[in-house]
Amino acid sequence: MRVLVLGADGYLGWPTAMRFARLGHEVGVLDNMAKRAWELEVGARPLWPVEPLQSRVNAFAALGHGTMDVFVGDLTDYAFVSQVVREFRPDTIIHYAEQPSAPFSMMGREQCVRTQVNNVTGTLNLIWAMREHAPDAHLVKLGSMGEYGTPNIDIEEGPLPIEVKGRRDEIPFPKQPGSFYHLSKVHDSHNLTFAARTFGLRVTDLNQGIVYGTQTEETLLDRRLRTSVHYDQVFGTVLNRFCAESVSGRPLTVYGTGQQMRGFLNIRDTMQCVVLVSLNPARPGEFRVMNQFTEAFTILELAQLVQHTARQQLGLEVEIAHLENPRNELQQHYYNAKHEKLLELGLVPHHLTAETVGAMLRDFHEHRQHIDTSVLVPTVRWVRADPAPIAQG
Ligand SMILES: NC(=O)c1ccc[n+]([C@@H]2O[C@H](COP(=O)([O-])OP(=O)(O)OC[C@H]3O[C@@H](n4cnc5c(N)ncnc54)[C@H](O)[C@@H]3O)[C@@H](O)[C@H]2O)c1
Repeated sequence: MRVLVLGADGYLGWPTAMRFARLGHEVGVLDNMAKRAWELEVGARPLWPVEPLQSRVNAFAALGHGTMDVFVGDLTDYAFVSQVVREFRPDTIIHYAEQPSAPFSMMGREQCVRTQVNNVTGTLNLIWAMREHAPDAHLVKLGSMGEYGTPNIDIEEGPLPIEVKGRRDEIPFPKQPGSFYHLSKVHDSHNLTFAARTFGLRVTDLNQGIVYGTQTEETLLDRRLRTSVHYDQVFGTVLNRFCAESVSGRPLTVYGTGQQMRGFLNIRDTMQCVVLVSLNPARPGEFRVMNQFTEAFTILELAQLVQHTARQQLGLEVEIAHLENPRNELQQHYYNAKHEKLLELGLVPHHLTAETVGAMLRDFHEHRQHIDTSVLVPTVRWVRADPAPIAQG
């Protein structure tokens, strides 16, 4: 296949590009390096210095694993997107190229608008470029399990069957996300549903859980091939953040009670999922939804697993701190999300074991001198604190 990976400078995009190339596919990688600017903006740094995209592509080729076409530009620029799709002629497009952080989108009006314009416009441009130049290509779009929120019913993997006044139908699963970032993905899903129905595009919407992990088979090939791992309060996902806190002597920052339950997966399973989905594409006109996670845990369960593993395997005593929850979310809720379709396609999950957490902790420990402990504690609040009452008299 000719596979175009959008967002290939990022945490998931780079290992994905390497995976497809090693499997023998023709790979194109695209990014506008926006994430590197957002890092500077919020004062976040990856766990280790990350080589520029072009240098990683060169290193990968020099090691004999294959070449990649590199496209540097912005998905919100239609002339650029249209040219890349026309020239590269992809069979499959893996779309990771969005602003990926809920806290970033909640920092203020400006970051919120920027997130939605970036994410929604980029996906719309892609829809039109595909319609024009690659109508038979398969779009694999990364959404988030966070789009669903925490409804008091099972989360389906596809539409919700309903019965109203004796009549039956199926409707897109009603989503009640918890941030403007997640809403941008809900908007994408609506636009893509329409594009599949109207233009006959093939689309798979992968509602991905929270990813953890520092390494994939390909990043371990050479230090220059490492991917960008974040641990800070804006871009770091929770388990990666807990590992950084453990090795730098900080308490694990659990938001509220920690009873919030979420779906998780190992970065190695993200690689498996996107490959499986690409090899088994959606039909023309089909908008296919899959829930891409392997296990569900409460945040407190994760913290306890990290605490226990840090003590057992690294001899580190780690505390758990319950911070006032900066987000506006239910802390105790029902959670039962279906996630069968990827298993049916052949996904063999890497479960979250003490061994996995131990390997992550050792990676963070080796690079602990790079960890900036000033960016661990949340400062972005969903709801403004009430102003102090004005004194009377
Ligand atoms: N990491 C997770 O836990 C997780 C979970 C669920 C969903 N996702 C989704 O998966 C995707 C990849 O996540 P990630 O963690 O690798 O994020 P990331 O920020 O590391 O990678 C995204 C890349 O896209 C690029 N990008 C953003 N906007 C662009 C634009 N307009 N034009 C060109 N390039 C652009 C960025 O520069 C960045 O390199 C995102 O859409 C994210 O929302 C991630």
